Amino acid sequence: MSEETPVSVTMEKDGDVAVIIVNNPPVNALSWHVRQGLEDHFAAAIADDSVKAIVLRCAGATFIAGADISEFGKPPRGPDFNAVLNSIEAAPKPVVAAIHGTALGGGLETALVCHYRVAVPSAKLGVPEVKLGLLPGAGGTQRLPRVVGVEAAATMTSTGDPLPATKAKEIGLVDELAGEDSLAADAIAFARAKIAAGPRPTRERPVFGDVAVIEQLKTANAKRWRGFEAPYANLACVEAATRLPFDEGLAFEREQFMKLMFGSQSAAQRHIFFAERQAAKIDGLPKDTQLRDIKKVGVIGAGTMGGGISMNFLQKGIPVTIVEMQQDALDRGIGVIRKNYDASAAKGRFKPEQVDQMMGILTPTLSLDDLADCDLIIEAVYEDMDVKKDIFGKLDAIAKPGAILASNTSYLDVDEIATATSRPGDVLGMHFFSPANVMKLLEVVRGEKTAPDALATAMAIGKKIGKVAVVAGVCDGFIGNRMLKPRQVEAMNLLMEGATPAQVDKVHVDFGMPMGPFQMSDLAGVDIGWHRDPNRIETIRDALCAEGRWGQKKQAGFYDYDDKRTPSESARVAEIIEQFRAKAGVEKRAISDQEIIERTLYPMVNEGALILSEGKAQRASDIDVVWIYGYGWPVYRGGPMFWAGLEGTDKIVAALEQHGFTVAPLLKEKAEAKTGF
Ligand code: 3HC
Repeated sequence: MSEETPVSVTMEKDGDVAVIIVNNPPVNALSWHVRQGLEDHFAAAIADDSVKAIVLRCAGATFIAGADISEFGKPPRGPDFNAVLNSIEAAPKPVVAAIHGTALGGGLETALVCHYRVAVPSAKLGVPEVKLGLLPGAGGTQRLPRVVGVEAAATMTSTGDPLPATKAKEIGLVDELAGEDSLAADAIAFARAKIAAGPRPTRERPVFGDVAVIEQLKTANAKRWRGFEAPYANLACVEAATRLPFDEGLAFEREQFMKLMFGSQSAAQRHIFFAERQAAKIDGLPKDTQLRDIKKVGVIGAGTMGGGISMNFLQKGIPVTIVEMQQDALDRGIGVIRKNYDASAAKGRFKPEQVDQMMGILTPTLSLDDLADCDLIIEAVYEDMDVKKDIFGKLDAIAKPGAILASNTSYLDVDEIATATSRPGDVLGMHFFSPANVMKLLEVVRGEKTAPDALATAMAIGKKIGKVAVVAGVCDGFIGNRMLKPRQVEAMNLLMEGATPAQVDKVHVDFGMPMGPFQMSDLAGVDIGWHRDPNRIETIRDALCAEGRWGQKKQAGFYDYDDKRTPSESARVAEIIEQFRAKAGVEKRAISDQEIIERTLYPMVNEGALILSEGKAQRASDIDVVWIYGYGWPVYRGGPMFWAGLEGTDKIVAALEQHGFTVAPLLKEKAEAKTGF
């Protein structure tokens, strides 16, 4: 090896067993130098006549967790992965993979060319490539059906969900479970015991199982996989394994893999993989920032948001004190939490005793004074600045020194809220998305005076409760809702000019969103933010609200709904729109789907560019994370800012100018340079 090559693979000998050890922190990804090291050391172990069997294991936290994703899309370097794997599989002496941590993707494919697999019970094995818009590109789709059968192979590749080692043992993916603390020794003993039996190349084993499962999986997952290419490509490869000789199957897999690898969906999904991890990093945070200890949480408000927020902490064993103003509201809130947990328990997500444990660490109270021992207090009452300031003023007198005071506001000025206290350094926003126990996004709003350690603690606690936390600056609607606004305004303008709610929504759903602007409005409540004066009718929305068309909850909004909440286009809404058009003297015209994209999605990119240049988001990829996890932007389009690059920022600017928008200078800059964000 040349001098610059990092030494990430080494070899030791234990009598007649060679032990090859990969050490490439943090996750032992198959970087080019790991492939090189595997090639060199396997060649040496095979050539050494005193070696009768070979064990492959990893140092550190995990077995190989996959290909090195950061190498994707870059010029190839080092030996070809498939060639390395083929030579391991062809070893004339038994090769045993010793697995701990996570054997994922290329890591599991490496384990599959080993002739046997030994794993500790806590290990997990899987092929998550589909989640990166890919498929196992190093024989995984051809070898898995030979080891675990078509059904398990099709499920594992198309869902990407890993299996615990105990389950992997049941289906034959793991040959023996090792002791949690004796993997290295157990694997060596296992290898030695297999010397007589010799190698067992996976490629020579027959594919087994029923191919019918492939169509069943497609039907069962039709909704979840809508718009995605990768799950179908994974299944096509497993199906190919059932009818093609091994090498032809491998060639088919390669072809499918390359197609995905150079397509936009995988580029988008890989972008989001790194974006999600990048989001956790806070710019300008001193390296030695100490986190505050969060042992107990207070939540103010036991409504939908407060209840959902509380559930996140209870599930992680963190006690919550929840405050309401009236006993009946408090009882109702606690009842809803209990009901939600019971429903989850009925589906097998929790054991009944776990539900009791979680409810056991929830303390309901009518007194704010009971929050005195909380380390983090989250206010989740309705959006009213005066009410929030009043609460924060009271908290200032009650909360212990160092407690973080958070507002679950979705629009309001956190700096102004902080003025109600004598400790603005402890104040920040924690904007959860509804339903708060389900949605993964958390916007952590950094006030002008928020202390770095308070911010870092809020981000860390977000991660602890399973959220993807993103830092946002103080502005109207922060990142997500601020970008929603121009979309909503244009959607309404389009109605005036001739589009129907159903047409606009269909364009968004076809784009890959879970629902369009009007479906969203009906779900959330058309009346949110309405002035509540039925005689003041200035907009189409005012007219809908005045007639009680408040959305799904009233079985009428932009759509009509039947008892099962199935929507249908509303003649009454069409009539209202027509009246507004007549009054404004607007002539109805045909609106193309392309125009809907240009006028509802391009302005979001424009707003994103403003948010970025104002420093309200730390980086473009944070905006993408917000829209993927908070609003269901299709992950295969990588979020609005990544998508802008795919679409072409020059094309976006040209269209925005044509439609009369003021284009953000940053977006113009990108367009002139013909780059994305
Ligand atoms: N390549 C490059 N970097 C990787 C990586 C990979 N496969 N997997 C993780 N990393 C990096 C992360 O970006 C992160 O870097 P950072 O510290 O600079 O942000 C660091 O490793 C630690 O990762 P996590 O924060 O995710 O650590 P966790 O302990 O929470 O999780 C894990 C570990 C379960 C291994 C998780 O990282 C993971 O799921 N990784 C991806 C696994 C995967 O998708 N493998 C398949 C790759 S594609 C493939 O193999 C193609 C083949 O078929 C040819």
